[in-house]
Amino acid sequence: MKAEFGRMEIFENYSLKSLNTFGVEARAKYFVQLRNEQDAKELAKTDLLRKHPYFILGGGSNVLFRDYFEGVIIQLENKGIEVAKEKNKGVKVRCAAGEDWHSFVEFCVRNDLGGLENLSLIPGKAGAAPIQNIGAYGVEQQDAFKELTAIDLMRGKLRKFKSRDCEFGYRNSYFKKNPRNPYLILNVSYQLSKEHKYNLSYGALQEHVAGKKHHDLSLQLISDLIVDIRKSKLPDPDMLGNAGSFFKNPVISAEQFRRLKSKYPEMAAYKLNERQYKIAAGWLIDKLGWKGKRKGDAGVHEKQALVIVNYGSASGEEIFNFSEGIRKDVMQHFDIGLEREVILI
Ligand code: FAD
Ligand code: EPU
Repeated sequence: MKAEFGRMEIFENYSLKSLNTFGVEARAKYFVQLRNEQDAKELAKTDLLRKHPYFILGGGSNVLFRDYFEGVIIQLENKGIEVAKEKNKGVKVRCAAGEDWHSFVEFCVRNDLGGLENLSLIPGKAGAAPIQNIGAYGVEQQDAFKELTAIDLMRGKLRKFKSRDCEFGYRNSYFKKNPRNPYLILNVSYQLSKEHKYNLSYGALQEHVAGKKHHDLSLQLISDLIVDIRKSKLPDPDMLGNAGSFFKNPVISAEQFRRLKSKYPEMAAYKLNERQYKIAAGWLIDKLGWKGKRKGDAGVHEKQALVIVNYGSASGEEIFNFSEGIRKDVMQHFDIGLEREVILI
């Protein structure tokens, strides 16, 4: 059902099933699709967002809808990639928030602009990349981030955010820390390089390029390898509903790390500094025998214990309850509290 609100076209009781990669059925009271900045300004002029809770949806690849959403879902569909500025060996590239992230990375690789190739094949839209500061295979988007433009949906005003304003951290940012922030990201700019420094710090990547010289490497080769590695480990959401890692990798104290390591010498962990270690949550969950486990249509992926999957018709609530079982078990056995990466709605 459609309704008019000022000059905006708004859908009511809208199904979100095809708009989240878990593929769970959920409905929103209102759904608004914005084509561009002008539409966003129009929306800010209405009192719709003052009267109702709202949530900005990108490609829905990091969210779990548990229930009916009694408010407004906003989706921005703007398009365009622009090589904004060239300076010696650096190139600033601006990407509209509504562009598919992987297509943007492919554009950069095709144009021999380095910096984002390790982030190939991450699902979702470009506008969501700064939200949790997406990262993979030794690189985070903050490493190439230049700035972003957002619109305050309450006041209709534009604001530029530089890197320090975004407060980027591991799977975190100013925007994720403040879920009530009014900012809709319109575009994101990255500072890319024509002179390539390949990041080969991730083990599997190193193995693939072993024996190759710097001049044998290319952005395309790295991107292709990343795509292959990802395809071998992670389920394709078009085939099996999921949202990537369900939990973040937890950070624990050096003291707790030493205690656990003496009991489990094979535990996968990385030293962050003298006081802290990051533990592979996938290892913890796997160790407790959850890999491949299933309850109804909610389950743990057979190849990656950090990925919860929807085998068909699991509801958001069923997936949530299943994930809570994992969290409790990890807490009981390892005294580690897992924090969700996926955003619950
Ligand atoms: P959504 O899931 O729709 O939203 C995520 C958050 O961004 C929400 O808080 C939303 O409000 C906000 N948001 C979205 N667009 C905007 C906007 N324009 N303005 C303001 N806020 C906005 N993540 C990684 O970091 N590394 C990985 O390696 C990785 N691998 C994955 C593999 C698979 C198979 C899947 C399914 C997911 C994976 N993810 C990974 C998680 C996910 O791809 C990222 O978090 C991605 O950035 C989410 O993009 P999205 O457009 O789908 O955002
Ligand atoms: N492991 C297991 N069993 C498993 C899974 C992992 O023992 O079932 C252990 C292995 O020892 C492995 C270690 O955990 O060496 C790490 O696993 P992997 O390299 O697959 O990475 P991850 O820590 O599970 C993180 C990100 C991914 C990202 C990859 C590659 C988080 C929460 N997840 O996963 O991001 O793609 O590294 O860099 O940081 C996402 O955020 O959605 C996501 C998929």
